[in-house]
Amino acid sequence: MKKLMAANWKMYKTRAEAKATAEDFINRIDGKLPADREVLIAAPYTALESVGSVLEGKPDSYLCAENLYPAEEGAFTGEISPAMLKDVGCSYSLAGHSERRHIMGETDQMVGDKVAFGLKNGLSMILCIGETIEQRKAGEVQKIIDQQLEAGLKNIPADFAPETVVVAYEPVWAIGTGEVAGEEEIVEAHGFVRKMLKNIFPEKANEIRILYGGSVKPANCAQIIALDNVDGVLVGGASLDGESFSQIALA
Ligand code: G3P
Repeated sequence: MKKLMAANWKMYKTRAEAKATAEDFINRIDGKLPADREVLIAAPYTALESVGSVLEGKPDSYLCAENLYPAEEGAFTGEISPAMLKDVGCSYSLAGHSERRHIMGETDQMVGDKVAFGLKNGLSMILCIGETIEQRKAGEVQKIIDQQLEAGLKNIPADFAPETVVVAYEPVWAIGTGEVAGEEEIVEAHGFVRKMLKNIFPEKANEIRILYGGSVKPANCAQIIALDNVDGVLVGGASLDGESFSQIALA
């Protein structure tokens, strides 16, 4: 399976800024992306079509939404459906990013509903999980990982293709802090994720990609993706610049 080198632009970039950064990024990796790598950009809803126009037709390059609402259509003011995301070119969506859990109050149940509905409606889904520093200090890393995985993957279609389900382990205390998790912490946590995936999907677990996210930079990415059970990265701040994200994608 190919390593997925993913950007999460969060609430940054106008359409023009997003298009310019995507073009800079794609130009920098053109012809240089190793055969065992894929790249993905998760952009704000308003910039998806602009970024999609840059990624369209590019090999191993995917457009991703940062969120979705689990309904086909309806009176859900302010929300966006999987069909609308596919209509602008998305093949992936994030679900359960820690900012949506801890700032917007999304529950494990809500996240699980999004993952299942997105998969059932033709999107590949990236389930974001990770513990807070309080939970880590309380020795609850494995408990939180197990809990978020069980709820986040609860109702996905039994016949799902393993390449369409991705887990992003993002310790909350490493997000946006510059305090990247240590190699031992990453190996331990990704080992917990793989073990739980084997409990839930014994036949497919080894083909489900596990990304690391949390202060990934060009300087630390090569070491991170060389670790056991690390199948790529999900990058925030360092992906907002085309050069920096290209260095990460090619690390
Ligand atoms: O989803 C990725 C993001 O949460 C990581 O952010 O800025 O620590 O790379 P950052």
